[in-house]
Amino acid sequence: MAQCNKRTLIIGATGFIGRFVAEASLATGRPTLVLVRSGATSTSKVKTIRALQEKGAIILHGSMGDRNFIEKLLKENEVDVVISAVGGDSILDQLTLVEAIKAVRTVKRFLPSEFGHDVDRADPVEPGLTMYNEKRKVRRAVEEAGIPYTYICCNSIAAWPYHDNTHPSDVLPPLDKFQIYGDGSVKAYFVAGTDIGKFTMKAVDDVRTLSKNVHFRPTCNFLNMNELASLWEKKIGKTLPKVTVTEDDLLSAAEEMCIPRSIVASFTHDIFIRGCQINFPIEGPNDIEVSSLYPDIPFRSVDECFDDYIVEIQQQPANGIGGGAPNSMVEVLAITAATCA
Ligand SMILES: NC(=O)c1ccc[n+]([C@@H]2O[C@H](COP(=O)([O-])OP(=O)(O)OC[C@H]3O[C@@H](n4cnc5c(N)ncnc54)[C@H](OP(=O)(O)O)[C@@H]3O)[C@@H](O)[C@H]2O)c1
Repeated sequence: MAQCNKRTLIIGATGFIGRFVAEASLATGRPTLVLVRSGATSTSKVKTIRALQEKGAIILHGSMGDRNFIEKLLKENEVDVVISAVGGDSILDQLTLVEAIKAVRTVKRFLPSEFGHDVDRADPVEPGLTMYNEKRKVRRAVEEAGIPYTYICCNSIAAWPYHDNTHPSDVLPPLDKFQIYGDGSVKAYFVAGTDIGKFTMKAVDDVRTLSKNVHFRPTCNFLNMNELASLWEKKIGKTLPKVTVTEDDLLSAAEEMCIPRSIVASFTHDIFIRGCQINFPIEGPNDIEVSSLYPDIPFRSVDECFDDYIVEIQQQPANGIGGGAPNSMVEVLAITAATCA
């Protein structure tokens, strides 16, 4: 891969999406700085930081909310690109980051923490709406400050779309029953985490994505829940019962205001009941679709991502059921159900 020398700061690299972006940045060979908050850090985050460091990341300690610190960091390290992948509870903290980027005037591209839907178009019920209002506020601050930006609208991560889990790709698809939203016919776009990282890093260096919403709509991964369920059933060699989760069920889960679970329920409603990923064409002056930019670079298919889960299942210890790898997917299913209960 051709090496890029743009010095890139990633904030939120220990998070779910940020890690994919940081790894993709390091894979390009560019100098990658990773901002890590000090204080109590879990074992898994320590492992992530160490793994990124081993791949060449320069670890810096501090918080995005400290404007003087960020200004100094951007200047001293001659940062060209800033990518934020902070989580839902830190979206507004990016306003301070925007002020710092505006003050130094040397950042050539800023990607705020988006990595989902086009928040100016999608209109979920609460509490998802509050998060979108915050993301909209950050967008307006970036635009008013005249900072060169790109908004990554990557749609859903390739995984079973659990309506109560913020990080669905960390979890195996169902092994006992499927919960199908509505009639399961509304389609969505699913993108592997590694592809979110890879195409984000292509977009940051691309003049065609300057001041644009970059939409990820890989046609190979345009699936509804019924199709997703069939694909998984084929992998595990077993048909699972399907339970309908109605629109009202999702709205009730959203109304519970149990954060972050209810936020996910409101997005799930927007995607699989209202069709928020597919109810608009990509034709505005600020819109661009990522496959049209890089037609020769393939996306990982959901089929391949599901294969990864099968490998994961096969690698799980058999927990006293004889040990070693199971012989069939049905056996895998039984073992995993027992292990995960
Ligand atoms: N498309 C999808 O399917 C999908 C799924 C999930 C999320 N998303 C979106 O992706 C973005 C990231 O979400 P996530 O779930 O990946 O987040 P996450 O797992 O909660 O991780 C957030 C990261 O931000 C860091 N952080 C937060 N505040 C910070 C600060 N003030 N200074 C420095 N670092 C700070 C955290 O560091 P610590 O380790 O110190 O806490 C952590 O590394 C969000 O915009 C979210 O809406 C999209």
